[in-house]
Amino acid sequence: ERGDALPRDLSGRRVVVSAGGTREALDPVRYLGNRSSGRQGYAIARVAAQRGAAVTLVAGHTADLADPAAVDVVRAGSAREMRDAMRAAAKGSDAVVMNAAVADFRPVALVDHKIKKGSGDPEPLALTVNPDILVELVQAREPGQIVAGFAAETGDATGDALHHGRAKLARKGCDLLIVNAVGDGKAFEVADNSGWLLGADGSETELGSGSKALLASYLWDAVAARL
Ligand code: CTP
Ligand code: CA
Repeated sequence: ERGDALPRDLSGRRVVVSAGGTREALDPVRYLGNRSSGRQGYAIARVAAQRGAAVTLVAGHTADLADPAAVDVVRAGSAREMRDAMRAAAKGSDAVVMNAAVADFRPVALVDHKIKKGSGDPEPLALTVNPDILVELVQAREPGQIVAGFAAETGDATGDALHHGRAKLARKGCDLLIVNAVGDGKAFEVADNSGWLLGADGSETELGSGSKALLASYLWDAVAARL
């Protein structure tokens, strides 16, 4: 672990971080969501503030986490709300980190009343694809701005987690991608993460197992080196 003497190398910088999961409303009382706790994104925001940055944290749904000290917290419910909040906050900022677990899909229609059970099986739920916030941020990237994303990957028949991470970095077009190998209880709802930090410049750094704060430090080291 790093000691408490963090560098102040982000002084004078403005950074934006998203965290937590989005919730996609189905009716007034129901939603599609995910199990993201927001802990990693909160650690990223906290460490950036400790290193001197002015930080905006765009938070979706999270576990019951305290707002990090000296961080401007903006709430976002759905993916589309998060997109608007991120695009607004990204304007004029030096670095943007998408750590949120954005729902890939949302219900096609928001039903304006509580859906009743009725009798028999329901109709299949019709879904539509959400905007890809990270890709939009890359498209809107300002000169000198660094855009980073996260990917939780498992291996499959076509390749291992790192292979999928490399492909995702290329597809998204971001400057940095942190890849977590998941499965076997890793990453989701646990205190520690491990994985790789991939750069658009071809750099690949294996990140040992460590706390979310330590992973946040590795990310900001990489961002600071590119600013
Ligand atoms: N992301 C985003 N908007 C989305 C989906 C994902 O901004 N609609 C961001 C995430 O915050 C993360 C990165 O993209 O930083 C990778 O998310 P991931 O879910 O791994 O990628 P997808 O493109 O959704 O691909 P898939 O889920 O099929 O692996
Ligand atoms: Ca996804």
